[in-house]
Amino acid sequence: MNDAQRIRELTALVKEHAHRYFVLDDPLIADGEYDRLFHELLALEKQYPELAQPDSPTRRPGAAPLEGFSQVEHRLPMLSLENAFSAGDLRAFEDRLFRFLNQAVPREMLVYAAELKIDGLAVELVYEQGLLRQGSTRGDGNRGEDITAQLMTIATIPHQLHGDFPPLMEVRGEVYMERQDLLALNQERALNDLPPFANPRNAAAGSLRQLDPAITAARPLKFFAYAIADTGHAPGCDGQIQLLSWFLSLGLPVNTLVRRCPSVAEVIAAFDQFSALRHALPYEIDGMVVKVDSFALQQRLGSKARAPRWAIACKFPAIQATTRLLAVDFQVGRTGAITPVAILAPVEVGGVTVSRATLHNDDEIQRKDLRIGDTVFVQRAGDVIPEVVKVVVEKRNGTEQAIAMPSHCPVCAHPLVRVEGESATRCVNPHCPAQRLRSLIHFCSKAGLDIDGLGKKNMEQLFTSGLVADIPDIFSLRREQLAVLEGWGDKSAEKALAAINEARHPPLAKFLAALGIRFVGEVTAALLEQTLLSLERVMDASLESLLEIAGIGEQAASSIVEYMHDPEVRLWFARLAQAGVVPQAGQAVRDDLPLSGQVVLFTGTLATLSRTEAKKLVKDNGGTVATAISQKMTCLVAGEKAGSKLTKAKELGKMILTEQEFLHLIHR
Ligand code: IVH
Repeated sequence: MNDAQRIRELTALVKEHAHRYFVLDDPLIADGEYDRLFHELLALEKQYPELAQPDSPTRRPGAAPLEGFSQVEHRLPMLSLENAFSAGDLRAFEDRLFRFLNQAVPREMLVYAAELKIDGLAVELVYEQGLLRQGSTRGDGNRGEDITAQLMTIATIPHQLHGDFPPLMEVRGEVYMERQDLLALNQERALNDLPPFANPRNAAAGSLRQLDPAITAARPLKFFAYAIADTGHAPGCDGQIQLLSWFLSLGLPVNTLVRRCPSVAEVIAAFDQFSALRHALPYEIDGMVVKVDSFALQQRLGSKARAPRWAIACKFPAIQATTRLLAVDFQVGRTGAITPVAILAPVEVGGVTVSRATLHNDDEIQRKDLRIGDTVFVQRAGDVIPEVVKVVVEKRNGTEQAIAMPSHCPVCAHPLVRVEGESATRCVNPHCPAQRLRSLIHFCSKAGLDIDGLGKKNMEQLFTSGLVADIPDIFSLRREQLAVLEGWGDKSAEKALAAINEARHPPLAKFLAALGIRFVGEVTAALLEQTLLSLERVMDASLESLLEIAGIGEQAASSIVEYMHDPEVRLWFARLAQAGVVPQAGQAVRDDLPLSGQVVLFTGTLATLSRTEAKKLVKDNGGTVATAISQKMTCLVAGEKAGSKLTKAKELGKMILTEQEFLHLIHR
């Protein structure tokens, strides 16, 4: 093989492994091996710069964590938007447009594009000759942070554009996180004693502002493109709605919920529609953005200092309210961490009555300078836990009292400790009943073995009645014990026992995550299952052998060893085995199959496969079968005479395959 061939081969290899590592979080080779390939490529490219491939991974930061974020200047400033809070504001917006255009434009020519205002973080992607060269945050509008490596880990951001792209293109859009993903991430963070992200914007920002792109890669971020810095770089597009279709053809993800509104009345109707849709969407929106559709008119209207004249944001009323902080309760978590919880005078926030909100930890209380008796702003962002945002200092009358963290555990009275460098104050008594109860609740919860009928309330009852003191006790419950409990009957006892029975053969990863070992969430538990393949081997794994598993760090490894060597835990496992609880390895969802992560829908007549066979092939290859067209579907396989589903899938910008292409994809 000559050097030119080797460069091509290395380029492909390093790209593939970088993708597996950064994007899929599923490396096939050791880090050292990757570094060797990377440096061999780097050396050859230095020797023959003219042979370096334009999409070479060495040109993309991403292999090694960055030292710090450098600043980048936006060629054209990234503006923000003015806000409209009422229908009146929207009419006033249109009046301003007319005045500015000197009424020289007939009203019918003013057509608007109404889009969702995605709650995330605005970024700019610079494509040169179709290749993603640079990505940055908005910053102050003129200069932002260089987060190229971080953005490159987002699966839906194309590294290379398809089709007819201009030589230079600055795409702007929003990086966001779906509600479900944010919820799961927050659960994982709670497990590691990290404060939850309060909203998708913080989650996106927090995940992108990671110097180590590998951390960004592990976060489920997504992207929607919604603007181009220079409309002169969008050949053939007359306006915003065309721009979005063109983006799709280039392979850029766009949000397809756009309304073409020929009048302000229709803009207002679109706002009502979007408001109604809001909670059904898988991601958070904080309003609607209205843009004058025509690029020619946008040009004429131009911009003011901070915002363009041709667009406006219609914000949803903030889901915030003020109320009084009555008291602070201190909860003991599963790991002993003490969480201060604000007890509030009940107040309605976005249709839900809130009477408690997390205060996270002592540092947060100090930072916000909260005092009992204060009037506070409370905020609820989607499904995220209500939060106290800040104090209304002006409302103080001098009777407010400072909040002190307790010195002893409110449940077991054991002295609390605060480890240097940690924000949590902790009860370190391993026998603290509060921790035990929390562990039991976690074990049966959705994040654990998901035992129906053993939710929080029932578990509390089983614990206080003394029927369940530890995990093995769950599996020796008898019907007559349950049926006599207050609020239970034969039926509910029967149901709970059936669910407990079903939980006797859990996937090993699920079982390990359910135990609530510190620093062992779903991801680490899955790694343990994949590499060690049995509970016995996890129990006996040494610190060294755990550290050899890619993805398991110092903290998790020592926490696992410590947990597994606790004599009480050993006794539990023996009792569990006796009760017929045997975790099963090797059933975990695989993410390395051709259709892993794909949601496939079939339409039309297939030539060689029956529908049943086709569906089985999807499942055998790691995919899921969709039953209807939806945003969740990722791929449509269209046979002969495919009809409206094909049109719809095209509109949604989904991957469309012929039967042959589908078979090719799964190597058949
Ligand atoms: S257009 C000059 N479209 O809202 C126009 N912005 O307050 C620039 N945003 O910083 C923005 N969804 O982060 C536009 N469909 C959308 C948007 C959107 C969310 C954000 C963006 C921007 C902020 C403006």
